[in-house]
Amino acid sequence: MSKESLTVTDNRTGKSYELPITNHSIRASEFKKMKVSESDEGLLTYDPAFMNTASCVSNITYIDGDKGILRYRGIPIEQLAEKSNYLETSYLLIFGELPTPKQLASFTNKITMHTMIHEKMKDFMDGFLHDAHPMGMLVGSVAALSTFYPDAKKLETEVSRNKQTYRMIGKMITLAAYAYRHNKGLPYVYPDNDLSYAGNFLNMLFKMTELKYKPDPVLEKALDVLFILHADHEQNCSTSAMRSVGSSRVDPFSALSAATAALYGPLHGGANEAVVRMLKEIGSKDNIPEYIKKIKTGEFRLMGFGHRVYKNYDPRAKIIKKLAHDVFEVMGKNPMLETALELEHIALEDDYFVSRKLYPNVDFYSGLIYQSMGFPMSMFPVLFAIGRTAGWVAQWREMIIDKEQKISRPRQLYLGYDTRDYVPIEQRRPESASKSNTDE
Ligand code: CMC
Repeated sequence: MSKESLTVTDNRTGKSYELPITNHSIRASEFKKMKVSESDEGLLTYDPAFMNTASCVSNITYIDGDKGILRYRGIPIEQLAEKSNYLETSYLLIFGELPTPKQLASFTNKITMHTMIHEKMKDFMDGFLHDAHPMGMLVGSVAALSTFYPDAKKLETEVSRNKQTYRMIGKMITLAAYAYRHNKGLPYVYPDNDLSYAGNFLNMLFKMTELKYKPDPVLEKALDVLFILHADHEQNCSTSAMRSVGSSRVDPFSALSAATAALYGPLHGGANEAVVRMLKEIGSKDNIPEYIKKIKTGEFRLMGFGHRVYKNYDPRAKIIKKLAHDVFEVMGKNPMLETALELEHIALEDDYFVSRKLYPNVDFYSGLIYQSMGFPMSMFPVLFAIGRTAGWVAQWREMIIDKEQKISRPRQLYLGYDTRDYVPIEQRRPESASKSNTDE
């Protein structure tokens, strides 16, 4: 069978090049061979925001955006949400296979044993303002963990990488809960090893004076499923940050902090908060047609709709919509649900949204669930970060042992000045001063 290739003719030189096609891709470095002279460095490929560039080979997560498919290690997200739990799914993402009962028990035990954090972390947390954003606190405290575990710099051995893995997943819920308690002016609650991962998190968040906290099983299950749904999503902004920062061979806590920071941005981890704000603003079902009109004129966007990859119903949104009903049965119906359902109904029948393939994404209903569970909006990205930690860790580990990977270092197209001379300050004229500096 003939090998697949792409023939490129360089009109500058008239030369033709055969570029091998492997796994539906060509190597960007092949373009380096296309030179006009010996001293020429060859052609670059230009791809702002990596819209069509694969930065790595990965065996972890598969997405087919047109068909609305999401699979972790080949297993459909629907099956994992129904049958698995977050720690089992984390094991699958990280080690590539579902664990045996013994492996799962051991993994769960190790994560549980690593939920405790150093007492000094309390002082660190106390240093934040009383109303500090919990996501900012999470970014800072995750980075601080690297100073508590200098052994995390040893990236070469799997034993060390495993230890950091247990620490990262274990401590994330404790740091997140401490950030929440700090905001509320409540004493920090220690982990309870009798509880599940999600149950323990609820304990550290909501325990008051009772001797033993008993999580509501429906809320515990719902939170666990939400963590599964957010666990990985291939090379998104925060995962790319984890890989890119980690590629400098820094300790994984520093890389995890960078990934968490990337998730803090409103275009990434903040959309579910925007959905809740939008539903509040719409107020009642009667105001929806007017609101949709404004969206269609481009005044603003329908938050929780549309996705860079999914051009179909986001499979996670379908699961979350069902989950919302379970949570509302325990906590009472979120009054904004009616508005959300009607908004979805109208949008899915409107040609503007249909022709652009804009469907509800993961964030459309998740904010409503979090709100009903008693989380303030500032905690929404923190909850996303907890779930995504398994994916970040899995992707970091894959990157570390990938022989083809090097320190991440994109190229650029330099379009600035050619060489010019330094002008002494007394000779500079106002008209040649920078136009972008508007501080004066
Ligand atoms: N409401 C109204 N119009 C929209 C929306 C929306 N939510 N999303 C896209 N469009 C329109 C957009 O105006 C454009 O129309 P036209 O072709 O007439 O100019 C067309 O659809 C294509 O949009 P785009 O901006 O090129 O699409 P993108 O792939 O760059 O954007 C997106 C993806 C998620 C940023 C965008 O759909 C959006 O802003 N959605 C609302 C915010 C949101 O819900 N974000 C959460 C994403 S899911 C979280 C995750 O997986 O991490």
